Amino acid sequence: MSASGEGLGRILTVALGLCLVCSMVVSTAAVVLKPAQQANKTLDLKRNILMAAGLLDPALSVEEQFEQVETRVVNLDQGRFVEGVDPAQFDQREAAKDPARSRALAGAEDPAKLVRREDQALVYLVRDAVGDLDKIILPIRGYGLWSTMYGFMALESDGNTVAGLGFYEHGETPGLGGEIDNPNWKAIWPGKLVYQGNEVAIQVLKGSVPAGSADEQWQVDGLSGATLTTKGVDKLVRYWLGEQGFQPLLENLRQGDLS
Ligand SMILES: Cc1cc2nc3c(=O)[nH]c(=O)nc-3n(C[C@H](O)[C@H](O)[C@H](O)COP(=O)(O)O)c2cc1C
Repeated sequence: MSASGEGLGRILTVALGLCLVCSMVVSTAAVVLKPAQQANKTLDLKRNILMAAGLLDPALSVEEQFEQVETRVVNLDQGRFVEGVDPAQFDQREAAKDPARSRALAGAEDPAKLVRREDQALVYLVRDAVGDLDKIILPIRGYGLWSTMYGFMALESDGNTVAGLGFYEHGETPGLGGEIDNPNWKAIWPGKLVYQGNEVAIQVLKGSVPAGSADEQWQVDGLSGATLTTKGVDKLVRYWLGEQGFQPLLENLRQGDLS
């Protein structure tokens, strides 16, 4: 082999070796860091669940505060708790993608643009000192303008009064649709009512709630400059509180019939 051929061979060997070492470093880092990333994700979810319910004290440990929360798996159609499924092992997002554990939605059935709705969902219960239900926190999601927005809505024990709402993951534009994270806007939600009789009456308006509106208790101001995201929030909230969402569970809860 010529001298230049040998040089090229050496360069290729070194380059290949370097690639191999780098890929090993990257894949090892990914494997080693995965549990820590997963733990951080879980912690963030817990923080957001507490925050939606207005229970988060930033000065205290999230884990300790989350001890007051009981996580349950619910059969959405029946509105009943499911026994025998460990909530800690239940991945609701995976369930929503699995044709065996979800059903396809289309057209008018899918106002929140979910594509599929899982058969089972997680809910989070907070009890008072004597063990009675104080708050129930529901996972909600739906499409805004650019993205699926994932959040939680907390209700008081009547299953009708909003205790809070928050989104922990979305891709809406900062300053426009991203204002769904604005604490001032989120502060409008607590105290609003969901149902009028059996109908989902809560709605997010385009613009502000008119002064003296007869339906003020059920109406939330829309975000200006973000009508499309606001519409998405309106649709997803109404969907998840409706009969395809958590309404059967909340109905059973109101009737004290939750087994
Ligand atoms: C770059 C860009 C990003 C935008 N992001 C959002 C968004 O995240 N959410 C939204 O509702 N509208 C967004 N809009 C504005 C929408 O196109 C639309 O004008 C707006 O929703 C209308 O709201 P308004 O009727 O309150 O003005 C964006 C517009 C531009 C140009």
